[in-house]
Amino acid sequence: MTCGTILTETHGRVRLVTLNRPKALNAINRQLTRELVAAAIEADADPTVGCIVVTGSPKAFAAGADIKEMAAATATEMYINDHFAAWEQFTAVRTPIIAAVAGYALGGGCELAMMCDFILAADTAKFGQPEIKLGVNPGIGGSQRLTRFIGKSKAMEMCLTGRTMDAAEAERCGLVSHVVPADRLLVEAINRRYETTLSEGVRFERRVFYATFATHDQKEGMTAFLEKRLPTFTHG
Ligand code: HXC
Repeated sequence: MTCGTILTETHGRVRLVTLNRPKALNAINRQLTRELVAAAIEADADPTVGCIVVTGSPKAFAAGADIKEMAAATATEMYINDHFAAWEQFTAVRTPIIAAVAGYALGGGCELAMMCDFILAADTAKFGQPEIKLGVNPGIGGSQRLTRFIGKSKAMEMCLTGRTMDAAEAERCGLVSHVVPADRLLVEAINRRYETTLSEGVRFERRVFYATFATHDQKEGMTAFLEKRLPTFTHG
């Protein structure tokens, strides 16, 4: 499905969301924010979706927040509009989200990748928080999350110099889980749906656990423990 700034497809239990502003290297404007967050919420509510993969183009996952859109805003407008707050709904999504990153993931693009549950990178990926070069600082959690991913020293260096990090370095320092050849990125991201069996499995396990409380054996087993005797199970 095409929806302005994103494309959505379904592959089995995987919902693939592709950022689609190629002329602006997928710069994140208000419309893209709204549409991506809505797509994630919609996928999260769909029980047939086990995993969401967010990706961009071969050249850019996303080159940051849309500089053109924000350049002229005043501090008061930025504060009142508070449109970065919408990302809190994205991070609240419970369905696992994988960022499949090729090319530039800069500024808000790097932050978006880090808001996902994990990052799978093509060997062409480049990560960075170059906001300092624009006279601003990261705005959707970059300074906070990068520090947690790669440690204070490297995160400080990245934010204070604005330099980019290639895929190999990103894997070495724990920012990404795996690096794969660029032409394998989506195949790998989609095949990683088995990761979702973890959350599905945890939910299933919890339901089964609750259901055991309808059985004789649960009552017998727990009572026997409390009475310090061996249980007599009837498998009922
Ligand atoms: C708006 C952008 C953009 C951005 C690129 N473009 N990045 N438009 N916002 N963040 C546009 C360019 O203006 C240009 O449009 C087209 O995309 C192609 O970009 P080029 O610069 O011509 O491509 P190239 O020479 O290959 O360089 C690629 C690049 C460079 C190194 C990624 O575009 C770049 O440095 N972009 C800005 C990266 C950045 O500073 N990001 C942080 C943004 S601030 P035209 O119309 O000229 O063809 C941020 C704050 C986070 O993210 C706050 C929370 C969201």
